Amino acid sequence: QEEKPLAGRKAIVTSGPTHEPIDPVRYIANRSSGKQGHAIAAALARLGAEVTLVSGPVTVPDPVGVSVVRVERAEEMRDAVLAALPADVVVMVAAVADWRVAAAAGNKIKKRSGEAPPPLLLTENPDILKTIGHHASRPKLVIGFAAETENVADNGRAKLERKGADYILANDVSPSTGIMGGERNSVKLIGRDGTEDWQEMSKDEVAEKLAALIAARLSA
Ligand code: C5P
Repeated sequence: QEEKPLAGRKAIVTSGPTHEPIDPVRYIANRSSGKQGHAIAAALARLGAEVTLVSGPVTVPDPVGVSVVRVERAEEMRDAVLAALPADVVVMVAAVADWRVAAAAGNKIKKRSGEAPPPLLLTENPDILKTIGHHASRPKLVIGFAAETENVADNGRAKLERKGADYILANDVSPSTGIMGGERNSVKLIGRDGTEDWQEMSKDEVAEKLAALIAARLSA
């Protein structure tokens, strides 16, 4: 029991990017690799949790001992997360596209010489973390990430409040850091009662440390 402190606990993790279709062959996406989210799902499973990983399109392999639900769009990701409730903890690591094309074309948009490029009208995607943070079946622990390129701590704290989360792991994803798509991460843990700077470590180590924190919080 000592090594499986999350036995009997349910966890939901989101990971990867979302792809928002423009037409059947084109989409809007972002640079998330899924490495950090998948590592967190694996770490929670190693501690005995029953984990549902809701993943956007990624090339990283499925973690061992986790049930994986594959989605493409933000709305599909939200539906899959809600379908996986109730849970003891959710960790939203996915880089959900903030916007989608308001009316994706049913057929490939043709390029015709002499015609102007098609305008893309965008509409806002659902905020999955905010939905869960304020949900009637809110898990005991709601954890989000904040990828920022400036004012990392301030933006992270504002996000904690706005989204109704217990913790936000904020990281600086400026291109110079190499974090996006890389193996290492450097995060600040922002909680209700303070902020901790975690030294730079591998994404697997961030996952281990977060899983240990979740186990401690759920058994307290
Ligand atoms: O607002 P921002 O996208 O920076 O917030 C990041 C956090 O919110 C991440 O935990 C991300 O998974 C989550 N999120 C979400 N649904 C969105 C946008 C972000 O769950 N539509």
